[in-house]
This record gives sequence, structure tokens and C-alpha cells, in this order.
Amino acid sequence: MLGPVILAASRSDRMRRMISAAPVTKSVVDRFIPGESVDDVVPVIKELTGKGLFMTMDVVGEDITTPEQAGAARDAYLELIGRLGELELGARAEMSVKLSMFGQALPGGHELALANVRPVVEAAAAIGTTVTLDAEDHTTLDSMFAIHDELRKDFPQTGCVIQSYLFRTEKDARRLAANGSRVRLVKGAYKEPAEVAYQQKHEIDRAYVRILKILMEGAGYPMIGSHDPRLISIAQELAHRARRKPDEYEFQMLYGIRSDEHLRLAAEGHRMRVYTAYGTDWYGYFMRRLAEKPANLRFFARSMITK
Ligand code: FDA
Repeated sequence: MLGPVILAASRSDRMRRMISAAPVTKSVVDRFIPGESVDDVVPVIKELTGKGLFMTMDVVGEDITTPEQAGAARDAYLELIGRLGELELGARAEMSVKLSMFGQALPGGHELALANVRPVVEAAAAIGTTVTLDAEDHTTLDSMFAIHDELRKDFPQTGCVIQSYLFRTEKDARRLAANGSRVRLVKGAYKEPAEVAYQQKHEIDRAYVRILKILMEGAGYPMIGSHDPRLISIAQELAHRARRKPDEYEFQMLYGIRSDEHLRLAAEGHRMRVYTAYGTDWYGYFMRRLAEKPANLRFFARSMITK
């Protein structure tokens, strides 16, 4: 029951100010977000790729309010890509972007987000890697898929994310599987109404399996974004049945969550990509991680009281 309350708080400016300013917050945030700048995360990138893991990098931030902030978000990604180029990691390190950070919700936001994300996708391609468009709340998805289609005309490797909790997703998956897209499937992390989304965990999990089957049997590249042990073993079985080789799909997990599992799957010969977020505007990302597991909130609350 706590999850929806935390997700509502993730959109509250008052809570954002309170929690961001609390001195103890940082030690808890560090578990999920290993730094605020590119300099902070370069050692993390070197360490994880050195262990055979792949990375997808997220400069945190969303729901910006001015075109200047959207431009700054684009520049932050360009700076990151410059550093990744020096490391010569190619497709081992890709980018994940939230279009709301590129101005999608501002007036004329669809065009603005496309104009801001295109140079990022171009720069990524120039160093041999790519970009995946994250899925945000359901009201943003038509625009996200249209931007994805547009970018794929020049950069077919551009990926996107779909969420199993939404009723619409099976249909989206069929289209994306048929057109050969790179698609990350996740359960979904936003507070969505019952008119558009399953509310029960078992329904969301069942939909996840149905959709994964569509992706595995299709022409695209499935990316399994989950920490759920049951779904991970089902994914392995579905990949086997679809006769996919280890480089024809990948697992993805978030930095700081089930890290032993990252290494275990990589050691078994799977591609494992670690979604690693960094930056100063970490509030929304952090609150979604708290909402996913109530034990995280208890840990956070205890450190607030004991410090
Ligand atoms: P589930 O929540 O059932 O968790 C399974 C197990 O994993 C838990 O029992 C626990 O052990 C562990 N676990 C999961 N979350 C944890 C947490 N926060 N802290 C500690 N342990 C945790 N969502 C979205 O809407 N749009 C997006 O673009 C993305 N992108 C994305 C990328 C990647 C690589 C991943 C892995 C996830 C996302 N998500 C996302 C988030 C996703 O929608 C979902 O909220 C989380 O992955 C949690 O769901 P699981 O599938 O892990 O299952």
C-alpha cells in the first residue's frame, strides 16, 4: 500500500525540497545513484565494464520547466558521450534518456524534445553506441513512440521502453517486434489509473510474460528490464525456445539492486546491462526506487531518525 503514496510524493515539490535537503538522504541515495557528475561515474563505468558488464547511462532529471533546462540536459548527455568516446567502450555503454527532460511537456514539446534528443543520438552513433528512450507516464507515450519512429529512420538501433502494467502494451509490443526494434520491457514505475493499467502484481507479471513472448518470437532485440527471479528464468526459457543466441537479447538491471545477480548472469554468458543513473536532480528517480520496495523506505526512515 505504501508504493502509491510514495509515487504521489515523487511528484510533490514540497516533499522534493524537504527530502533533498535532509542531510541523511545522501547516504541512502548513494546506493542507487553513484554520483552527481561525469567525473564521479567514470570510475564506476570502468569498474563495471571491467567485470564484463554492459552499461546504460541516465543523467537524472525529468519534468523540467524551461527550454534552457532542456538544452542543458542535452549538453549533459553530450558531455557524457564525449567521455565515453575517450573510454572507447562502443556499444558496451549506451544512454537512456527521459524525453520529459528534453522538454516534451513544454509548449511545442514534441518538436522540442525531438530537436534536443537527435544530436544526442547522433553523437552516440558517432562513438559506436546508441540511445534508448525511457517510458514515462502513459500520457507521454504516443509522443515517445512517434519520436522513436522518427529517430529510427536514420538510427535504426535507437531503442525504446514498454511497460507491462499498461493495457496498451501488448499492441505496442506487436508493432515493435515486427519492425525489428530494440525494446526494453519493464513492469512500469509510475502511478497509473485503473482505466489504463493493471493494478495487481500478478496481473502485471502475467502481462510481462505474454509481452516477452511476443518480443522473443519477433524480429527485434528484446531487453529484459527486471530483477524478478521468476521472470528472469522464464525469459531464459523463452529465449531458448525462440532459438535466440546469447547476443540476440539481453538482461538489464538497475545499479545497486541485486548486484550479485548482475555478475552471476554475466558469468553464465548472458549480456547484462546495468542502468546507472547519476546527476544532481535525483529526487524522482530515487522516490521510484523507494516505492518499488517498502524495505527501502523503512531503511530510509530509520536513518532519518537515528542520525
Ligand atoms: P519487482 O518489483 O517485482 O521486484 C523483484 C525483486 O527485485 C524484488 O523482490 C526485490 O528483491 C528486487 N527489487 C526490485 N526493485 C527494487 C528496489 N527498488 N530496491 C531493492 N530491491 C528491488 N520503469 C518505467 O516505468 N520506465 C522505464 O523506462 C524504466 N526503465 C527501467 C530500466 C531498467 C534497466 C530496469 C531494471 C527497470 C526500469 N524501470 C522502468 C523500472 C521498472 O518499471 C520497475 O519498477 C522495477 O524494475 C521493479 O520491477 P521488477 O521487474 O524488478 O520486479
